[in-house]
Amino acid sequence: MFTPYQIRSIEQYQLDYAQSVEKPEEFWGNIAEHFVWRKKWDPVLNWNFKEPNIEWFPGAKLNITENCLDRHLPALGDQPALVFEPNDPKDDHRVLTYKELHFKVMQFANVLKNNGIKKGDRVCLYMGMVPELAIAVLACARIGAVHSVIFGGFSAQSIADRIQDAQACAVITQDGALRGNKIIPLKSVVDDALMACPTVQRVIVATHARVPVSMLKGRDCWWEDEIKKVETQGNPFCPAEEMDAEDLLFILYTSGSTGKPKGVVHTCGGYMVWANYTFVNVFQYQRGWTHFCTADIGWITGHTYILYGPLSAGATSLMFEGIPTWPDAGRFWDIVEKHHVELFYTAPTAIRSLMAFGDAPLTGKKLNSLKVLGTVGEPINQEAWHWYDDRIGANQCPIVDTWWQTETGGILISNLAGVTPSKPTFATYPLPGVQPVLVDENGVELEGNNVSGNLCIKFPWPGILRTTYGDHERCRQTYFSTYDNLYFTGDGCLRDEEGRYRITGRVDDVLNVSGHRIGTAEVENAINRHAGVVESAVVGYPHPIKGQGIYAYVIFNGMHEDEELTRQDIHQTVARIIGSIAKPDKIQFVEGLPKTRSGKIMRRILRKIAEGELENLGDTSTLLDPSVVADIQQGRLV
Ligand code: WTA
Repeated sequence: MFTPYQIRSIEQYQLDYAQSVEKPEEFWGNIAEHFVWRKKWDPVLNWNFKEPNIEWFPGAKLNITENCLDRHLPALGDQPALVFEPNDPKDDHRVLTYKELHFKVMQFANVLKNNGIKKGDRVCLYMGMVPELAIAVLACARIGAVHSVIFGGFSAQSIADRIQDAQACAVITQDGALRGNKIIPLKSVVDDALMACPTVQRVIVATHARVPVSMLKGRDCWWEDEIKKVETQGNPFCPAEEMDAEDLLFILYTSGSTGKPKGVVHTCGGYMVWANYTFVNVFQYQRGWTHFCTADIGWITGHTYILYGPLSAGATSLMFEGIPTWPDAGRFWDIVEKHHVELFYTAPTAIRSLMAFGDAPLTGKKLNSLKVLGTVGEPINQEAWHWYDDRIGANQCPIVDTWWQTETGGILISNLAGVTPSKPTFATYPLPGVQPVLVDENGVELEGNNVSGNLCIKFPWPGILRTTYGDHERCRQTYFSTYDNLYFTGDGCLRDEEGRYRITGRVDDVLNVSGHRIGTAEVENAINRHAGVVESAVVGYPHPIKGQGIYAYVIFNGMHEDEELTRQDIHQTVARIIGSIAKPDKIQFVEGLPKTRSGKIMRRILRKIAEGELENLGDTSTLLDPSVVADIQQGRLV
């Protein structure tokens, strides 16, 4: 069974696309009719990219959890909403039907209320991939609190920065998270963060890994105790708060080209429509299918394609707590077989790392439940694409290469599984509502096919970000000021002879390491905090598994005799300031950095050296001291 607005043929794609461009309001107004609203909109859209001011479905009232839970109860109440596969395959999996998830979300929503949390308050979530995270996210949405999920790999300092920026009043966490054979002490990291966060009044701690934690009187409480209180109060029901379509749903921090991550803001109505529309269309979801998205809910992919997209569509969404290589590199495939997964969505970096284990982990695995495969987060290379197609999809499953960003809320450019053709390494065509343009450096639009340039979008789609939290000017400058009247993605892109798009990577100072976005300026700031560091410059270089690796050039004062120890000291510093995901892969100690006479570091040269390109460094005549280049070349790390 398909969804009424599901595109089922190329012809229909072309018609829908044309209509979405010619009559966007009519088009999205019709789609929005398929959701539950307490009050309808008027008009469908207000927008300008100057300020920017973007409102989808203004005046409409809704609650996204009524669309993700309540409305499914009559027909799908007993169908699994979430399937939780634990870290350790020896432990039991858990299933929450729509009825059960609805019940648990209301229960925890009452816990939030009992703890004084109300509509508009910001709540920070720092958890592992456990059902309680999904429940907590939805419970926030139920009462209109704004959730800000922070990926479990970020450090205390990063959490503190995000909590302070959002002025969050509460944190939800767990004792520890299980990842392979490691336990990550989440609560203890939160404790460190909270030394600098006076706005936080409450910390709710779920037990999971059963590691000892300190519980502070008056501030910290146990999830389980709070649930018991709600049970004794005797009212399991929690009505959904009525939200304006443009009320905040969540903040998600992401890296840009400056040192400070920004809080990307998504709102209730447009984001819901976009998450749902893209989920059913790109993956061609059919009723009863199980969707396994391997992302973490700490990133946008988890928000949109583990939670809001699948749940709003009434799908079964699988949440996996562990890692792809533990206890062995067949873990994903065991899960696919065990739970009869139809839709499998992962990142190229995961495919490449599993590919490196060869075929042995696949032997004997029954993957024939699979119908559609997807990739996200970074450009996929030919080799990985074909391995995925052959070994995982048995050449029977369309692969969707989905291009999008935290800021876009959901997929913007992708083929539609089995409906529009794929082309390896190409995201292919834009979804209805998405109007891409390529521009040159001066913002001149590149018309026609067979061109490459910077990727911009010239019309709002329902899932576009609305602002960056607490700093609207920053949103304008980052996304809407580079080119007049265009949303600038930060990505380079080419359009082939048939108008298909291939995203080639970031054109700004943002790295994509294992599908994680990391700003070079952020890493530099962290390295520079180390006492012995005089100055540093960070660039990306091609990495066979991670996509990009982090290469740091560091001027250091007072080196240990053991250079390696100094490297580890710097790693420790970066792990403390940002988190271990930002540790440089290579640290080269240098005497000087190539600078222009005005003091600007010439990253172009450093990038080339890191990439192993030792000739053709381009014009170095504007350098203050061209001799540093030869020294750096000599000391290059391979
Ligand atoms: C990159 C992840 C090539 C791109 C959803 C973008 C991709 C950044 C693809 C956003 C793809 C994402 N092909 N590159 N299919 N998907 N990217 O915010 O550079 O974590 O700007 O969102 O990932 O990363 P973010």
